[in-house]
Amino acid sequence: MNERKAVLMTVIMIIGCLAIAGAAIADDDERGEHRRGGLFGRRLDVAPVTNAIYTKECGSCHFAYQPGLLPARSWTKMMNTLDKHFGDNAELDAETQKEITAYLVANSAETSSHKASVKILNSIKGDDAPLAISKTAYFTRKHREVPERMVKGNAQVKSFAACGTCHTAADKGSYDEHEVKIPGFGKFED
Ligand code: HEC
Ligand code: HEC
Repeated sequence: MNERKAVLMTVIMIIGCLAIAGAAIADDDERGEHRRGGLFGRRLDVAPVTNAIYTKECGSCHFAYQPGLLPARSWTKMMNTLDKHFGDNAELDAETQKEITAYLVANSAETSSHKASVKILNSIKGDDAPLAISKTAYFTRKHREVPERMVKGNAQVKSFAACGTCHTAADKGSYDEHEVKIPGFGKFED
């Protein structure tokens, strides 16, 4: 290799390194609000659940989803159709239903500046009122690299609706990918 070629190679390598570093910084920026611990403190993906009646009634069959994971119109629709809830009857007495609806609406995605709330809301078209968090565009985008054998084909998970089986700090409102541990598979490497 002559000297000119060597210089050229070096320049190309430097540009390559800068591009990689740039991508890493951009990626970090995308998660800006997400930095854990240290100087930046802790910024959760979604505000944690704070209502004991909600946890008791809506956390008995599955994970107690944070209200910030869906817009108010989704919660209202869901709470008005509890007799036909994903193939189950999840009906409540009128008073409990009213209290839980009020709690969900008061803490819905629109009311929050937490990252997952904002992103889920932005990913829902027009006035759609999805009932499944796991069917929203943001959710499917974030999970598209997670193969079916780790979810449906995994007896310890079964469904994407089981947030807490993979996200070890989901109950605290944290969905950081570094805290994911898929039962039977361990940490997720993409
Ligand atoms: C009798 C059992 C039962 C009760 C009680 C129940 N659910 Fe469900 N829920 C289900 C089933 C079954 C599914 C579907 C889970 C799946 O797709 O794997 C579901 C799914 C959901 C989902 C969608 C999850 C996703 O993103 O795919 C939400 C949100 C939800 N329930 C909210 C509630 C709320 C709010 C309450 C309390 C009012 C409640 N559930 C009470 C059985 C129940
Ligand atoms: C089968 C295991 C599994 C289940 C169940 C699951 N997730 Fe995830 N989730 C993952 C993995 C793995 C990632 C990271 C994917 C990647 O990096 O490509 C992720 C990423 C995310 C992210 C993005 C985090 C970030 O740092 O950008 C959010 C938010 C999230 N999940 C929310 C949920 C919610 C809410 C539920 C339940 C409705 C759920 N997940 C259910 C495995 C799971």
